[in-house]
Amino acid sequence: MPTLDELAATVRGCTRCRLAEGRTQTVFGMGDPCADLVFIGEGPGAEEDRQGVPFVGRSGQLLDRLIGEELGITRDAVYICNVTKCRPPNNRDPLPDEVAACSPYLAQQLELIAPKVIVTLGNFATRVVLRTNEGITKLRGAVHEADGRVVVPTFHPSAALRGGGAVLTAMRADLVRAKQALGDGAARR
Ligand code: URA
Repeated sequence: MPTLDELAATVRGCTRCRLAEGRTQTVFGMGDPCADLVFIGEGPGAEEDRQGVPFVGRSGQLLDRLIGEELGITRDAVYICNVTKCRPPNNRDPLPDEVAACSPYLAQQLELIAPKVIVTLGNFATRVVLRTNEGITKLRGAVHEADGRVVVPTFHPSAALRGGGAVLTAMRADLVRAKQALGDGAARR
């Protein structure tokens, strides 16, 4: 098993799928490599591709706010990453073969970080982590389990930016579920 840094280096050189051709850089993940709580999004957007950091655009600003308001911590205390490590062009959805090519990196990342709780943001991350075709609207609002870890699916922050109040309220409730699953509010080991 590589270290997290070694895995990030492997990902930096990855050409497993066509997304490698269009990227400025890979976006591996950021935060505490020993975090008890991991957030997983879909794939980098334009700003993430530019900076090499996940969730730094508008969705990320909302995510940071929710982490602060519902969990009382900052993003440094958790780990944040995506299903695909390269930006899909024009913010299109990742294609099934791209998700399949990149998922082993996510699986290794999760094994190395070994979080207690995973919050999946939106359909893509939720389907990959829970190995299901079910949609987020059906799956969110409950606590699930995968590979011995608690999984709390919630909407992608971009859905809250588009859909407003009800989606945001649901996301807040899901983050409270994640906090309860962590126990004692501790996001760090
Ligand atoms: N949306 C995602 O799913 N991930 C990011 O890193 C940014 C936006």
